[in-house]
Amino acid sequence: MNFSISPMQTIRGRLSAPGDKSISHRALMLGAIARGETAIRSLAPGEDVRSTMRCLRQLGVSIQENKTELRVQGRGFAGLKKSATILDAGNSGTTMRLLSGILAAQPFDTTITGDASLQCRPMRRIIEPLTKMGATIDSRENGYAPLIIHGSKLRGIHYPLPVASAQVKSCVLLAGLHAQGETVVEEKIPTRDHSERLLRLMGANISVSSNQCSVISIHAGELHGGEIEVPGDFSSAAFFITAALLLTDSELIIENVGVNPTRTAFLEVLREMGAAVEITNLRNAAHEPIADLIVRHQALRGANVFGNRVALLIDEIPILAVMATQADGETHIRDAGELRVKESDRLAALAHNLLAMGAVVEELPDGLVITGPTKLRGAAIDSFGDHRIAMAFAVVGLLAGSPTTISEAECADVSFPGFFETLQRVAAN
Ligand code: S3P
Repeated sequence: MNFSISPMQTIRGRLSAPGDKSISHRALMLGAIARGETAIRSLAPGEDVRSTMRCLRQLGVSIQENKTELRVQGRGFAGLKKSATILDAGNSGTTMRLLSGILAAQPFDTTITGDASLQCRPMRRIIEPLTKMGATIDSRENGYAPLIIHGSKLRGIHYPLPVASAQVKSCVLLAGLHAQGETVVEEKIPTRDHSERLLRLMGANISVSSNQCSVISIHAGELHGGEIEVPGDFSSAAFFITAALLLTDSELIIENVGVNPTRTAFLEVLREMGAAVEITNLRNAAHEPIADLIVRHQALRGANVFGNRVALLIDEIPILAVMATQADGETHIRDAGELRVKESDRLAALAHNLLAMGAVVEELPDGLVITGPTKLRGAAIDSFGDHRIAMAFAVVGLLAGSPTTISEAECADVSFPGFFETLQRVAAN
């Protein structure tokens, strides 16, 4: 489906971002292997999280949904059943990588696959540590899915992460939950810590120490079910933050947004660009900080985005690149080569589409240099089937001098069903 978007002057109003995708996957998976029931409120509504639910149901987990919450009947780590059919993670890297950590320790074999995009994403990064722990995993050449995971009795390992990835870290920790001895993950570049927080909340024997790098240690042990309130997804809120900053006279209140410091480096970059987002009503929802954000139109200048903090805003880079086209001066985004192996090659997709709209962009092997401000023109945008590219360019469409169309716009449903309707509602105010 193509989506057309016309230029707008301003956006105003109030909205809630959908539930956090990363936390939702983890809440479902940990709930499934815990003892007892886990009640989850504000679960992310997108397709990716539905993929995790579908896979867990195939593994024998009962999940009931009603309007206000979802109840997962935990089966304990040893209670999962062999699936009669292949598991399909759809477009979701988190589903495939995290679930593989659980499946590697099961006394049965599982085949897990995904859509065309997921079948081209690197899985060696999880095959390698899980193999060291004693699992056997068959894949297509170069470690691509489908994966056939031959579950085994695992042993703990000491694993320095070769790539800054919360998915790989979480995969090893989940395997460590059922391994003999201690499993240690050493993280030189910090990444989102939702797994660590939720594991602790649910009773895992986990400890985290931070000195030069963060060292996470886990021992086998049972989890207990509980109540989990999922905060709004900061990465989804980022599209609206950007729209409000860029459009004249705008003011938006975004409610119940997760502001875990391992997710909000984008706000720090905004401050360097000259923009302050007001954080109000800061509170804790069991295991994660939540706040309301107030955003008003502000002038921006270019910034340098590289080094360790790139991992802490990795999903915000598409919208940051859009913002940079309107900032005064150069914005340098570096150390972001991981973007080439996301749902699309995001560096190539950004450069291609921004150039089509008249932006000044240079594509580098690991980043982009964007010079602003530029008056953009509407264009036919290729989303490359990637939700964050589709949503980022819907925001650019509001600024352009003429209408913009976005191909395969329905891919936004992966993380934010109703995104275009919400954008149109606040733009109409
Ligand atoms: C995620 C981690 C990040 C992120 C993805 C979600 C997670 O991926 O880009 O959208 O839930 O752990 P990597 O771990 O591959 O960097």
